[in-house]
Amino acid sequence: MELSIHPDADALAAAAAARIACLARAALDARGRFALAVSGGSTPWAMLRQLAGHALDWTRIDLFQVDERAAPDGSDERNWTHLRTALIDPLGLPAARLHAMPVGRDDAPVAYQRELRATLGVPPVLDLVQLGLGTDGHTASLVPGDPALDVEDVDVTWTAAPYQGTRRLTLTFPCIARARRVLWLVAGAGKRAMVRRLLAADRDIPAGRVAQDAAELFGDAAAVPRTMD
Ligand code: 6PG
Repeated sequence: MELSIHPDADALAAAAAARIACLARAALDARGRFALAVSGGSTPWAMLRQLAGHALDWTRIDLFQVDERAAPDGSDERNWTHLRTALIDPLGLPAARLHAMPVGRDDAPVAYQRELRATLGVPPVLDLVQLGLGTDGHTASLVPGDPALDVEDVDVTWTAAPYQGTRRLTLTFPCIARARRVLWLVAGAGKRAMVRRLLAADRDIPAGRVAQDAAELFGDAAAVPRTMD
């Protein structure tokens, strides 16, 4: 997997944003549209603030979520709240292109899969899925030991159990595998051990199960020491 290593989190955010902007322009030129799915957590927000500074035709870019926490609208726990703050509200993105995970609905997996299909076709193919990496090797909300890891027949599912206190809605491995490209965004020394296992495609961690042929990893030097280059 191609590595792009940067001295610190700020440089990483700027570089990853520039790369996503480049992929977006290429997709817009090639197919007239760009479908991006963004993970949650905390690392993506600085990158999204940087992405907001790039001149892109957002009227042709569909913004999806990789995963979301079952928490009230507007709460700080919701990844969508941070997506709004970092990117959506500052740019005034068109509502028709915004695809928030409907975690307030019991039928959220079916509803979101329906939205993916209505927007992208069947099966839905995302142009780019941005993934993070947890210190336990999870990615999206595909967490160790959860039955969601084994879901093969749908694109969206609930975690069977709460994770870090909240129930999660997540894209499944088949949906992620179908994406044209995957961009890993990883920062901090705490992720170093899992970066090593990810790069080794260690299938004993969820992240290791994501195909690497169309993936690239953007990391800071704390998470990805040069020795892993
Ligand atoms: C979430 C994320 C999650 C995240 C990892 C890494 O909603 O929590 O989607 O999978 O990507 O936990 O998060 P950080 O990069 O912010 O540490």
